[in-house]
Amino acid sequence: MNILDIEDLSFSYGGGRKGETPHPVLSGLSFSIREGESVGLAGANGAGKSTLLKLICGLLEPSGGRIFVSGIPVRKDTLGAVRKELGYVFQDADNQLFTATVHDDVAFAPRNYGYSPAETEAAVDRALQAVRLEALKDRPVYRLSGGEKKLASIATVLAVDSRIILMDEPTVALDPRNRRTLMGIVNSLPCAKLIASHDLDFIYDTCPRTLLLSGGKAAFFGPTQEVLRNRELLEANGLELPLSFSRT
Ligand SMILES: Nc1ncnc2c1ncn2[C@@H]1O[C@H](COP(=O)(O)OP(=O)(O)OP(=O)(O)O)[C@@H](O)[C@H]1O
Ligand SMILES: [Mg+2]
Repeated sequence: MNILDIEDLSFSYGGGRKGETPHPVLSGLSFSIREGESVGLAGANGAGKSTLLKLICGLLEPSGGRIFVSGIPVRKDTLGAVRKELGYVFQDADNQLFTATVHDDVAFAPRNYGYSPAETEAAVDRALQAVRLEALKDRPVYRLSGGEKKLASIATVLAVDSRIILMDEPTVALDPRNRRTLMGIVNSLPCAKLIASHDLDFIYDTCPRTLLLSGGKAAFFGPTQEVLRNRELLEANGLELPLSFSRT
């Protein structure tokens, strides 16, 4: 079974007000992700990666086409059910963290899912341990470094079980050790993942398949090895061969 189906998806920003020109971002995009599969989402700045992730979790509404998460159509009236299936790590951690302390942010989802207080505390401890932030549990969020904020926002998603996790630039601001830790976490999570990143080496190490977004469509969707080794394809779509491949 597929965990995600995108059918003929189109989206434009603006155009709602009279005289405003719409800015098309996605046009006729179709692809599916299988249960438990990890897919990389590559594309130049402005290609529409973040927009696509926001459409999948219902933060934006498509201009055309359909999105299914676990077979549930993503619509206003199904958002509650859809959000139970998915976790979403924002590109900007400040959009994700909104309570007073790291603990409360990570506890938010388990509480919302109806975990008991003891289950919630256990889930928070587990998630913070995974990203090695236990020591910062009671720290106000505004007093975290950029990388710590990113790790805390990843922990908020790890605190509950999701069937698919959407990650937007998860490695930005992480130091090499934490980036490696995150790689281990991603590779050990059994759920499906869709990971938008300019860190093509990270995609290479975590995602067997990659979708290359360009001109509102999939310029390529297939084995990560094939796209990341294909200089012409990458350059034609505004990207470059990852350093680790250009050396060989
Ligand atoms: N709220 C908005 N209103 C209008 N246009 C927007 C809005 N957000 C994004 N855009 C435009 O939509 C296009 C796609 O943006 P998006 O953020 O999805 O790109 P991206 O692939 O995530 O880029 P990046 O790699 O820089 O994160 C860009 O041209 C951007 O300028
Ligand atoms: Mg983005």
